[in-house]
Amino acid sequence: MDLKVENGCIKEDKGLGWGKSLPVQSVQEIVRNGYQSVPERYIQEIKDRPSSISSESLQASLQIPIIDFSLLAKGDEHETRKLDLACKEWGFFQIRNHGVQVKILQKMKAAMAAFFELPLMEKKKYAMGANDLEGYGQAYVVSEEQKLDWCDLVALKTLPLEQRNLNFWPLNLPGFKEAVEEYSIEVQKVAEEINANLSILMGMERDGLKRYQGELKQLMRMNYYPPCSSPDLVVGVSPHSDGGSLTVLLQDDDIIGLQIKHKGEWIPVKPIPNALVVNIGDAIEIMSNGVYKSIEHRAITNEKKARISAAAFAHVDDELEIGPLDSMVDDPHRPPMYKKIKYIDYIRQVLARKMDGKAHTDLVKIQT
Ligand code: OGA
Ligand code: NI
Repeated sequence: MDLKVENGCIKEDKGLGWGKSLPVQSVQEIVRNGYQSVPERYIQEIKDRPSSISSESLQASLQIPIIDFSLLAKGDEHETRKLDLACKEWGFFQIRNHGVQVKILQKMKAAMAAFFELPLMEKKKYAMGANDLEGYGQAYVVSEEQKLDWCDLVALKTLPLEQRNLNFWPLNLPGFKEAVEEYSIEVQKVAEEINANLSILMGMERDGLKRYQGELKQLMRMNYYPPCSSPDLVVGVSPHSDGGSLTVLLQDDDIIGLQIKHKGEWIPVKPIPNALVVNIGDAIEIMSNGVYKSIEHRAITNEKKARISAAAFAHVDDELEIGPLDSMVDDPHRPPMYKKIKYIDYIRQVLARKMDGKAHTDLVKIQT
């Protein structure tokens, strides 16, 4: 690693990678060791604490679109329109009949559970490096003062295959590599089909986004939210929008944790067994010139059971300049609403700040 002396102190060279996160304690370990009360650094400011779910929010939860992926893949017009509305009004939807075999979902869940069950010393072998966000640890810790999420995670570059850094992979954990590999390939097919549909909806050919974005990269973030004695004081993952193109989330079938901000309210995304949750990331919001929304979301915890999820983020090439697509800009009716920016510069800006509850796309919005 290159070290530089700057202002009298040694700094690591930040030439590479997306950003960095300060190392903090494993939350799972705090829970394993027993604790009297939630440590101060995890107790959220009152305004950020999750309030109990209102009956209105539960009601609204039923309206989060559910899309039949098999119909979408067949080009069904009604389903395509549903997708359009889902991306415009919710930025989130669940998909059924996605074609990923239940066996593959189960193997993926079992692999993640087995990883987090490992002793801390073992997991630390795959700890995040100082200069990047791949590996085992916690993300988005940018200052010693900020409140921390009640979550441990492992992030792995999963696709394309040649971009994997297998030194972060627990290769001696039986079945882990196969399960993640198999799942990541399947889930990428799902993301590609959705992209093909979005391309048509945005006035291009099926391969429009693919041509513009190039081959999508995939980063798999596996989250472990331990149970918490005071779930009303902490958040599992703080409000944020996802930076990439699309995110496909595999969540626990019977534990509610994910919430999305809709019309100013936090709405839970109730799991549908074996369905996948999809959301629009910032890159698509920008390319669609704001028509499709990258929505703020967070995860909350509960008192009884750990919850595990896998977020597969589809990313574009670091060097690609992203901006509103020509087909989505029509001066003077729809002038460009976002500045053009190189993807890596955007992601670095996003990751360098603590998630503060604002959609990151504000960073590149053209003020009117
Ligand atoms: C994420 C995320 C939500 C969840 O990893 O970006 O939003 O329910 N996760 O785990
Ligand atoms: Ni997210």
